[in-house]
Amino acid sequence: MKIAVYPGSFDPVTNGHIDIIERAAKIFDLVHVAIIVNPEKTPYFDIDEREQMLKTAVRHIKKAKVDSFDGLLVDYAASKRACAIVRGLRAVSDFDYEFQMALTNLRMCPEIETVFIMTDYKYSYLSSSLVKQIATLGGNVSGLVPKIVINKLRKAPIDRGRGGK
Ligand code: PNS
Repeated sequence: MKIAVYPGSFDPVTNGHIDIIERAAKIFDLVHVAIIVNPEKTPYFDIDEREQMLKTAVRHIKKAKVDSFDGLLVDYAASKRACAIVRGLRAVSDFDYEFQMALTNLRMCPEIETVFIMTDYKYSYLSSSLVKQIATLGGNVSGLVPKIVINKLRKAPIDRGRGGK
């Protein structure tokens, strides 16, 4: 059984992420979509909200399971018996960071490969940060994020992401 981990902040999940999960599920038998719990960062959505949105958004992908983790990604991936870490690659600007992470993870755990999936050109400009910025300023994010995220963004207090939660 080929198992992969697709890690990220998913704050919030976008249609670009969903596209990567759908395509990873065609390659692997099981994809653990793993949300990082990073105590040093104050996310826009807390871990329960991010998990709930992701679970709803990937309901149609039978091979995807949503989970969260803290600590080292390679330790989490090993605990899930994953043979691969999946990451989406957008523009060249992603490369430095992804290259550094992939090689660091490979050094710590040579048994686990990082597999990059090129983001569909439709989503190549898309990021969670942009989505939050547009939504906070009252713009329309339909087509960029799953429906559940649109609803959540609508209900989020106006001061979220501006120092408030
Ligand atoms: O969606 P993001 O924020 O680009 O995801 C980054 C993530 C979660 C993949 C990365 O921060 C991570 O793997 N954190 C876990 C800590 C770790 O293992 N660090 C060493 C790898 S360089």
